[in-house]
Amino acid sequence: MRLVLSGILLAALATGGAWVWAGRAGAIAPIAPLNAASFDAALVARGEVLATFGGCESCHGQDLSGGIGLPTPFGTIHSTNITPDPDTGIGTWSEVAFTRAMRQGISRDGHLLYPAFPYDSFTNTSDADLAAIYAFLMSRPAVAKPAQPDALPFPFNIRRAMAGWNLLYLCQGPFAPDPARDEAWNRGAYLAEGLGHCAACHTPRNRFGARDAARPYAGAVVEGWYAPALNASSPAPVPWTQEALLNYFYDGWDADHGIASGPMQDVQRHTAALPEEDTTALADYVLSLQSARDPAAAEAARSFAASADANAEAPGFAAGQAVFEKSCQNCHRDGTDMVPLGLSSAVNLPTPANLYHVVTEGVVPSESAYFVKPMPGFPLLGEEDLAALARYVRQRFSTKPAWTDADLSAALTAK
Ligand code: HEC
Ligand code: HEC
Ligand code: HEC
Repeated sequence: MRLVLSGILLAALATGGAWVWAGRAGAIAPIAPLNAASFDAALVARGEVLATFGGCESCHGQDLSGGIGLPTPFGTIHSTNITPDPDTGIGTWSEVAFTRAMRQGISRDGHLLYPAFPYDSFTNTSDADLAAIYAFLMSRPAVAKPAQPDALPFPFNIRRAMAGWNLLYLCQGPFAPDPARDEAWNRGAYLAEGLGHCAACHTPRNRFGARDAARPYAGAVVEGWYAPALNASSPAPVPWTQEALLNYFYDGWDADHGIASGPMQDVQRHTAALPEEDTTALADYVLSLQSARDPAAAEAARSFAASADANAEAPGFAAGQAVFEKSCQNCHRDGTDMVPLGLSSAVNLPTPANLYHVVTEGVVPSESAYFVKPMPGFPLLGEEDLAALARYVRQRFSTKPAWTDADLSAALTAK
């Protein structure tokens, strides 16, 4: 209780103090519309690769005109129009205004942005890369589309409060390379911590919606999915290797880990579009977050998962077993060429959230995983059957502790 109170006090103090500071973030003068053809084509092309990797389209829509509602624990926040339309987009933004938004989360007119826009990661992007993204955005077709109102309850609708948040949690970039590490590691870190905003999903957040600095990449719930830990507590039964990560990034599938689904599918596609050197640097950076694990673990996990009798005697799961035999057995036990369920991260996470999603919605592999068949969804399975199925699948195919009733029902509510 005392911790909560002091946390709130601290935030209130910071907010109050920063109110003044926030007032200082003024508007940056509008500029006259730019001629799209004035940008160097090579710069625009580089900007496109970077913007793709940054996932601008995932949140702002394919034409970048925004209006997509992003659910957050505080309410729904809508992305805005980042096409060069002068009235409803960023057509009157100078490069300085754009850089300030990406680095500090401040809009051209001076209002503070919410970190649902991951500027706390984008801040790490270099000036040169921001210039390329700016050139790319400003040479897109302008789309006239006004912003959508946000559905944020008080006090979260007070944008100025973000000044306190920024003071406490924004570590302004650009990225500073670690001289103790080599160039490739620093490149991977730059991509992950900046445009890739991997931590935005994979690092748990505190009650103010900021990333928990003490637990980087420890795994977190995002959009009703669970982004697995990428650090030493990685739940993957077969330890990740560079080769496996490259398969996962390029194909969206790896024989020891299964398929990239949900919000990771977009990320995977974007990562695959990077130059090869960058994708490799990213894989090596992810590996460096995990501690080296005993290579024998891989063989043990594979043979446990391949065994037809893995935990077959798990008692008291008749209901879940019946669903499994009716709906899943055909493909997942009797089929060939399937990743054994025991290796799938959906079965090995602290929560059944991803398993629920996969079962109800099915799996549509990325185009790059053309050799993987789709899985049909089972949208008609009732909640009780779904929970029973999850309990059974976990107990039978994973060596991790059973999900508790609380785990099973919490994930159903969050879905
Ligand atoms: C995870 C979702 C997400 C991603 C990824 C994302 N944005 Fe956004 N962006 C938002 C949201 C939400 C807002 C609106 C924030 C607000 O209104 O406070 C926003 C606002 C902005 C703004 C401010 C616009 C204004 O009118 O104030 C800019 C500039 C911007 N984004 C650029 C980008 C670029 C460039 C990329 C890709 C490199 C990108 N965004 C990727 C969610 C995202
Ligand atoms: C929008 C949220 C989001 C972002 C951003 C994101 N991830 Fe993920 N990631 C997920 C989710 C959700 C999963 C689980 C998907 C599944 O199991 O099908 C996942 C899974 C993974 C996995 C597989 C882990 C395992 O053990 O199964 C890896 C590796 C990974 N992400 C790496 C990255 C990297 C590197 C980045 C940054 C370039 C990144 N992710 C950015 C949401 C995200
Ligand atoms: C028609 C065949 C088919 C049926 C029926 C089926 N699946 Fe799948 N399932 C697949 C395919 C194909 C994949 C993706 C490729 C892979 O993982 O090897 C997959 C993947 C999965 C994954 C891994 C997803 C991930 O993100 O890692 C889980 C978990 C899963 N299925 C569970 C189930 C459960 C539980 C049922 C029964 C309700 C079921 N499946 C029914 C074909 C099927």
